[in-house]
Amino acid sequence: MQSVNEYYSAVQLRSDRWAALREATDTLAQGGTERQMTALRKRVEDLWHSLEVIEPYWAFPGMQAFDYMRRQFTSGHYEDLAYSVHRALRALTSGAYRRRHIPLDKDSSEKDEQDDEAMLSPEARAMSKPYFEVLIVDDVNEHQERWLKSNVSRMRRPEDPFQYEAVVVPSLEDALIAVLFNHNIQAIVVRPGLTLKSRLEMPLLSRYVDSAERQDEIDSLRPKDYGPELCRLIAKLRPELDAYLVTERSVEDIAGLDLGICRRVFYNQEDFVELHLNILRGVQARYKTPFFTALVNYSKQPTGVFHAMPISRGKSITRSHWIQDMGAFYGPNIFLAETSATSGGLDSLLEPHGPIKEAQELASRAFGSKQTFFATNGTSTCNKIVVQALVRPNDIVLVDRDCHKSHHYGMVLAGANVCYLDSYPLNEYSMYGAVPLHDIKKQLLDLKAAGKLDRVRMLLLTNCTFDGIVYNVERIMEECLAIKPDLVFLWDEAWFAFARFNPTYRGRTAMNSANVLRERLRSPEHASAYEKQQAKLKDADDATLLKTRLIPPPTSRVRVYGTQSTHKTLTSLRQGSMIHVNDQDFKGEVEQSFHEAYMTHTSTSPNYQIIASLDVGRRQVELEGFEFVQRQIEAAMSMRRAISTHPLLRKYFKVLTAGDMIPEAHRESGVESYYEPEQGWTDLWECWEKDEFVLDATRVTLAVGGTGWDGDTFKTQILMDKYGIQINKTSRNTVLFMTNIGTTRSSVAYLIEVLVEIAKGLDDLLDDASRMERLAFNKRVTNLMHDLPPLPDFSRFHDAFRADNVTGEGDIRTAFFLSYDETNCDYLELDGSLKKAMDAGQEIVSASFIIPYPPGFPILVPGQVVSQEILSFMRALDVSEIHGYRPDLGLRVFTADALAKLNSAKLSTAAE
Ligand SMILES: Cc1ncc(COP(=O)(O)O)c(C=O)c1O
Repeated sequence: MQSVNEYYSAVQLRSDRWAALREATDTLAQGGTERQMTALRKRVEDLWHSLEVIEPYWAFPGMQAFDYMRRQFTSGHYEDLAYSVHRALRALTSGAYRRRHIPLDKDSSEKDEQDDEAMLSPEARAMSKPYFEVLIVDDVNEHQERWLKSNVSRMRRPEDPFQYEAVVVPSLEDALIAVLFNHNIQAIVVRPGLTLKSRLEMPLLSRYVDSAERQDEIDSLRPKDYGPELCRLIAKLRPELDAYLVTERSVEDIAGLDLGICRRVFYNQEDFVELHLNILRGVQARYKTPFFTALVNYSKQPTGVFHAMPISRGKSITRSHWIQDMGAFYGPNIFLAETSATSGGLDSLLEPHGPIKEAQELASRAFGSKQTFFATNGTSTCNKIVVQALVRPNDIVLVDRDCHKSHHYGMVLAGANVCYLDSYPLNEYSMYGAVPLHDIKKQLLDLKAAGKLDRVRMLLLTNCTFDGIVYNVERIMEECLAIKPDLVFLWDEAWFAFARFNPTYRGRTAMNSANVLRERLRSPEHASAYEKQQAKLKDADDATLLKTRLIPPPTSRVRVYGTQSTHKTLTSLRQGSMIHVNDQDFKGEVEQSFHEAYMTHTSTSPNYQIIASLDVGRRQVELEGFEFVQRQIEAAMSMRRAISTHPLLRKYFKVLTAGDMIPEAHRESGVESYYEPEQGWTDLWECWEKDEFVLDATRVTLAVGGTGWDGDTFKTQILMDKYGIQINKTSRNTVLFMTNIGTTRSSVAYLIEVLVEIAKGLDDLLDDASRMERLAFNKRVTNLMHDLPPLPDFSRFHDAFRADNVTGEGDIRTAFFLSYDETNCDYLELDGSLKKAMDAGQEIVSASFIIPYPPGFPILVPGQVVSQEILSFMRALDVSEIHGYRPDLGLRVFTADALAKLNSAKLSTAAE
């Protein structure tokens, strides 16, 4: 049996233990020698013990059935036991227990029905009532537990939209464990009899409640507060759930308490009917998909189409002689749902008043924003909308230079003065990390010293980065607000929509951090901490401010925007994205300009299917986001573990750890790796709470330089062409495997098999290689792993595009449009005229964006001076990999004349 340490999560452990139990009971049923039977009985006993502590948190098979199987075991009915375990496991794997009662004894007449389960069509599954579990928290004896459960099951009515089973746990700690472990739980009923401590001792499960801070919080509770506190604590872990508090305290006593996710309080009553109706209504509120439902209903109405869109109702296809295959491929529904109408129960994305408005409001609740806006053309558009809505010409914006290109274009459109921030480079892997907080503060302090702080409008960062570096969002906002209390933050969360649905990840999302900050800024403790720090920092110089963890003034404005490609990490059709707003000044200051910006960039024919998919994607995350993200993390973790422990794989590959991708100075916890073969798993919680940067474990970067192939060759010629495995990000010597909420353990297993096959192939090849071939291989590896050109920093904007040379911001818009006139531009060849001009001391200024792959971000933007480092980097790369560079002509640069003219125009304007 694998040790508990080998498991990242208890869910994985549970399913593996059941599979092992099935194997052991099968063998036991077949019989054997006395020695074999003794060993087998011991094994079953051990498995039994390990399952015994985790099964009380689940409704199926339930402790009654579990005890029944145990009796089969102790009384030696091994065949019956094997049969029961087989059934339980099958139902757990197929999810059949969600649809019907699963009898575990051999003689049941329902058996055949169950065997048909696997044959259920997807439509039949779709029609079955969704299932969930209700957690009842009360310290009851067996008899009382049966009474509670029978009361719950008596409430069922045929017309109920959902069905549920109850799980009963005795204490507050058990309840916290249950909501983190059992993803079937959708509602919690907290009764007055609950106790505080769990009797369970299983580190894998009690990990969350063991966290020191939480433990102190829990230990200081008074018994009468257990119920309300539990509701509050669950709100921090799983804010999407509903709780119902049954209390013996008075209304006055409860009023005014923070009850977290509590939807309703029942005072001194056992009204099971009310409770049942409330539970169903609570789940229905999340299940509801206003726009998807409206679209389904619309598609069923008979209509005559007298507006645009011949494809609507499939009319142009069904009457066609030539494009029938399209109709056959997509099926009729998509065309029935295609329309340009905004009436008939539908709505307009540009002026939503009906189901789209409601769907956006539900998304806002789900993602913790104050307002949410759907976009049907990706986060590329969302970014431009937010930038245009908030940034006025000449405003200064701090931007990470390796951000997505939509931001650079957004800056051009808005006329911002851009102050580029450098991410720390990871030269060994030819990729960038993220921008250290120290550098951001330094820029702000420099701008303050130059008297420009009032023009600084926004800080724009990518969280998480493509490669999975995650910022400490809350800390960055706090410290920046301490310098500039009305700074607007735009967090590009194109890759991070899923993060909201995991308690650890959620802490580093824009919306959660904004909500935490709002609450903190209001608190008296914050006000006094601020006052104290102010007194201490009176007359402090910048060096001290840079070293100090700054506290923002209580009057700071929380102004936060997050843009997410829902389609990248959650269920949505391509281009489905969302803008989440949590800005205290949105209504007063931004609403109108936001509306204009939204109009500027949104099509007047937005795709309804995308909007419907965003609505359904929101339903999914509110009901099973926690489960799916948990599984995704598990899949990624098992991939990390499999690669780093496999002797053959270790020879050619290396999974990059937090230690490889985040310099030590930014990892306060000191945690280097989330998995060490000798120690097992490190709890993510601690580093995610503390460290400046953490690594999103769901993105697995694999160094492949040891195979002698560069990242791109490995991606296209090996993974893609030979094994049909698709990935999209590579660097010179790495490939990135991104897991998502659809990744299964078997897809991970397939990938590992493929990697093993590749490694074996390389072993064979090297076995037969001649000395020369071996030397050539080693040379390739050294070249890929060690001879990498250092990644260049942002040099600077040319003086013609800067107001002064005190701080670094530049007018990218003027540079961008200056290049529209061909006479202002020239082309210089990398190894020829460009090098010569630079060696002669000329200042060469780029007229366009130059984006080498890798790293995939501009190393030159319009108006930027070409530095020696940039030139060396470009020369070290294969020029065909550089977007914006024309190998036939060279690098597009501004002529000295054009720059001189611009400079003198600038000087004469200044003189006036
Ligand atoms: C950081 C970042 N932001 C924004 C985008 C654009 O997102 P979309 O493809 O939804 O337009 C991407 C796309 O890869 C991205 O990586």
